[in-house]
Amino acid sequence: MLTVQKEKGRDFLILNLTDTHLADAEWAPGCEKRRILEGTIRTLMERVRPDLVTVSGDLSYIGNARAYEMLADFLDSFGVPWAPVWGNHDDEEGPEAVERVVRGYLKHPLCLYERGPAELGNGNYVIAVEEEGRPAEGLLMMDSHDRETFTGADGKPYVDYARLLPAQLDWMKEQVRALSAAGCTDTTLILHMPIYAYRSAAEAALRAGIDGRAVTKEEADGTGVWNPGYEASFGLWREGICSPPVDEGAFDTLLEGGTTRHVIAGHDHVNTFAIPYRGIWLCYGLKTGTGSYWEEGINGGTVLRVTSRGVAEVRHEFVDITPWRE
Ligand SMILES: [Fe+2]
Repeated sequence: MLTVQKEKGRDFLILNLTDTHLADAEWAPGCEKRRILEGTIRTLMERVRPDLVTVSGDLSYIGNARAYEMLADFLDSFGVPWAPVWGNHDDEEGPEAVERVVRGYLKHPLCLYERGPAELGNGNYVIAVEEEGRPAEGLLMMDSHDRETFTGADGKPYVDYARLLPAQLDWMKEQVRALSAAGCTDTTLILHMPIYAYRSAAEAALRAGIDGRAVTKEEADGTGVWNPGYEASFGLWREGICSPPVDEGAFDTLLEGGTTRHVIAGHDHVNTFAIPYRGIWLCYGLKTGTGSYWEEGINGGTVLRVTSRGVAEVRHEFVDITPWRE
């Protein structure tokens, strides 16, 4: 378990970045996508002044060795610890390819990362935000893998986004239990791909007959588009929820653990919703930069405000990309 220190009486701020997704060539000097990504992160660091930065996957495309190093050097330059989990594009060439990036990352003094048990994937680890020796918050940093072969109702195999492994759910339970034993009453799961429950939550929350793609940011941040009981929801549901196609059981495991109140995912670049579902906020991190596909107005990061009692607030911090356009 890794630890970071929270000062008593002062909020601890986590800034989550996601799907930065620049390839080697896009890190070339003067490239618009690089200017936008660097400008966005610099703006967020100045505005939020975080104590910890998390990156919820798809940092680049694996194989783009220079891109991973460029991003790591850039994050290091702010003097704030940062912690990644891997996305499907980071994972898609298997553990050896990830390990090459990891060896470089572990040389970065501010990179917080543990490989975790190899049988669970590439990097499953915990960061405890400690206040006076007690974990005020536990961050479960998990690898959501890439693809998996499923069997359809017709008995035919098909490939879709992978589930968390049953052994990862056991690991989650153990970590939550260990954190609870140390006095931790609030945990957050950070991973790249949304868990299956994001689908159930979005269907339960958005009013029948409303097309998520037609909802504006202002409407989504109001109460008019959400069902009773879900009025606190905010953010957009602009594209399909690319979780695994079947329930992997992660949500029930989190409910059972009893301390997880937030999940932060990336992966679906233009979904930004946060929905309180059966006691757990299922949130998308706001996409950072214009790597891969993106949409005007959806750029920035997500802030988690941690108090002595855990995460008290999650909000998106939007950054206008106009200053860095060509
Ligand atoms: Fe992804």
